[in-house]
Amino acid sequence: MPFEYIDRQLCVTHKGGVIPLKDVVTRSPDPIYVYDLDGVMDRLEKFKGSLSVPHSVHFALKANNNRLILSAMAQAGFGVDVVSGGELQLAIDCGFSPERIVFSGVGKTVSEIEKAIQLRIKQINVESPQELKRIIALAKKIGRSARVAFRMNPDVHAETHPYITTGFRENKFGMDRTFLPELESQVREAEGAVTLVGLTVHIGSQLKQLEPMIEAIEKTKEIHNELQSRGWDLKTFDVGGGLGIHYEDGNLAVDEKAIAQYGSAVSEATREMGVEILFEPGRVIVARFGVLIGEVQYIKETPYKNFAILNTGMHHIMRPCLYQAHHRLLPLTQKTVAPQLYDIVGPICESSDVLGKDRALPILEQGDFIAVADAGAYGAVMANAYNSHSLPKEFVVYNGVCQATPSKVPVSF
Ligand SMILES: Cc1ncc(COP(=O)(O)O)c(C=O)c1O
Repeated sequence: MPFEYIDRQLCVTHKGGVIPLKDVVTRSPDPIYVYDLDGVMDRLEKFKGSLSVPHSVHFALKANNNRLILSAMAQAGFGVDVVSGGELQLAIDCGFSPERIVFSGVGKTVSEIEKAIQLRIKQINVESPQELKRIIALAKKIGRSARVAFRMNPDVHAETHPYITTGFRENKFGMDRTFLPELESQVREAEGAVTLVGLTVHIGSQLKQLEPMIEAIEKTKEIHNELQSRGWDLKTFDVGGGLGIHYEDGNLAVDEKAIAQYGSAVSEATREMGVEILFEPGRVIVARFGVLIGEVQYIKETPYKNFAILNTGMHHIMRPCLYQAHHRLLPLTQKTVAPQLYDIVGPICESSDVLGKDRALPILEQGDFIAVADAGAYGAVMANAYNSHSLPKEFVVYNGVCQATPSKVPVSF
C-alpha cells in the first residue's frame, strides 16, 4: 500500500522504509500534496506488463503534471499524451523526446500546431476536418510533413459521470464516420504535407466496465480495416485511456486485477491488426499514489451538523465539487475515540466546497490533519487560487527520499 497506518500514523511506505506524513506536513505552512513515485512507476510497469501486443504507453499528462513524476516516466522510456502547447512544452522540458509525444484535444491553436510540427512529434490526433485543414496549411508553410491520426467518435455510451464521457455522439470529441470522405480527400490533396498514420478513440474517464471500451475499439477497428482496404498504410491504433479505480476503497489488488483484465481484453481485440497499439492511461497510473493533506482550522457544531473546516478544499481538489466524486478522508493520526459524523469542508466562499458529507471520523480537533486519499490524478493539476489562496505545495517520495517539487508556474511555449 502506498499510504498506510503504521503505529497509528498515516505513512508513505517505500522500498527503503517508511515516512510518516506528519513529518512532511511540518515542511509547509500550507496544504500539501504528497506522491509516492515508486508506486507510480510500479503501476506503469504493471500496466505495460498486462499488454501482449506491440505497443507504446503514453501517460495522459493532464492527470498529473508534476515535473519529478514526468521526468521519471520519461527516463524510464514511457511516452506522453498532451492536450495543449503548455503540456507539450512541459513534456519536452521533462525529457520526453518528440517521437514519444502524441497530441490530443479539440481546440489546438495555430501556435500549438506549429510547435508540434516543428518538433516532429509522433502524431497529432485530429478532432475535426477544420483542424486537419489548419494542420495541412501550417505543415506546408513550415515545410515539414506532420503525422496525423483521426480521432473517431464511436457513439458509445460509457457509464461514468456525464462530464467525463467523450465517445458519445453528443460529445464534442472525435469525428463521426461520415466525416471520412472529406478527411481522406484532404489528406490525398495535401501533397505529402500530412501523413495519415492511424486512428484513435477515447470514450471517457473513470470507466469501470470493459464492455464499452471494447465496443468502441471494435467500431473503430472496422473503420481502420476500411481505410486499409482503400489503400491507407496505417501504422498506429490509439485506444486512449479511461480505466477507472474504486475510490470507495483503497485496495490496490482490485486495481491490478482490473488492469490485467483490461490489458488482456484490449490486446485480444487488437492482436490481428498488425500495427502499434498506443495507450493513453492517466488516472489508473497515478490516482492511488497521491494524497492532499489539509489542517483542521475550526470545528463548528450546529444544531444540525458538525463541520470540520480545513485550510484545503475545492480550490485544491475540484473532483468532489465538479463530479460529486468520493474520496476517502483519512486522519493523519488514528485515534481510539468513537467516531462522529462530520461534513469536511474547505475555506472557499461556496457551499459546493465540500470534501465529504456525513463522514464518520474520530472526534476531530483544531490542528488535526486530514488526508484526501487517491488524489494523485486530476488533483493538483486542477488546483487554482480562487479566493486568492495559495496553491498547494507538492512533495514526491522516490527511492526513499522526500523531495519538494519546484513551485508550479504556467509553462510558456
Ligand atoms: C484523449 C484522452 N486520452 C487519455 C485520457 C486519460 O484518461 P484517464 O485518466 O481516464 O485514463 C483522457 C482523459 O479524459 C483523454 O481525453
